[in-house]
Amino acid sequence: MRRKLIAGNWKMNGSRAALAELDAIAEAAAADPSVDVAICPPFTLIEAAAERAPGLTIGAQDCHSKTSGAHTGNLSVPMLQEAGARLVITGHSERRADQHETDEEVRSKASAALAAGLTAIVCVGESEAQREAGEHIGVVKRQLAGSLPAERGTGEIVVAYEPIWAIGTGKTATPADVAEMHAAIRAEVGEGVRILYGGSVKADNAAELFATANVDGALVGGASLTAAQFVPIIEAARS
Ligand code: PGA
Repeated sequence: MRRKLIAGNWKMNGSRAALAELDAIAEAAAADPSVDVAICPPFTLIEAAAERAPGLTIGAQDCHSKTSGAHTGNLSVPMLQEAGARLVITGHSERRADQHETDEEVRSKASAALAAGLTAIVCVGESEAQREAGEHIGVVKRQLAGSLPAERGTGEIVVAYEPIWAIGTGKTATPADVAEMHAAIRAEVGEGVRILYGGSVKADNAAELFATANVDGALVGGASLTAAQFVPIIEAARS
């Protein structure tokens, strides 16, 4: 039985004051040891978040593949680890779009995280046009083939399926769509890898998603910013 993982991605949101939300989130996580809970705040809040909520897994939203060097503005895995990160999101569709990240870069970032013993959440997902053209399964399989490291290191690899058209839009894939895609991903990654769903996950659709075959949790954007919205998602994951 794979444990559920509920990971919050704060994206470019939040301030020191927002860390107060972590208290109730940590309390909900502690109340159910059967669910793993992570929060990925902006880089500047990682250290303070890790100090405030030692019971939560604090993660980063990106990393560089090299450990150090002339890469202005980037942060390496050892830097993130020193700040308290134990997980890294790699290849989020917003970075694939805004920073033009390729599968190859995503793979090298995930490799760096895994080699250091961190959890790497590798994100994949099709656009609306690709789904309408019936190409969604092929697109995601190609992303997996290009983005998943062959070497797993000592860290844990997690896949997040996030259809781009469902992110921040209030649209969610139907349970049938999710089941189809997660089965396709499962066939590629095997039984041991957790597969998260992401894209407008909220308190009112979480239970149905978590009851869907091969859904091992969620990557949550907007609804992870407040405990009021995030805690019910953690509760829906309780087995
Ligand atoms: P959303 O974002 O929950 O706000 O749709 C999900 C994500 O991008 O990880």
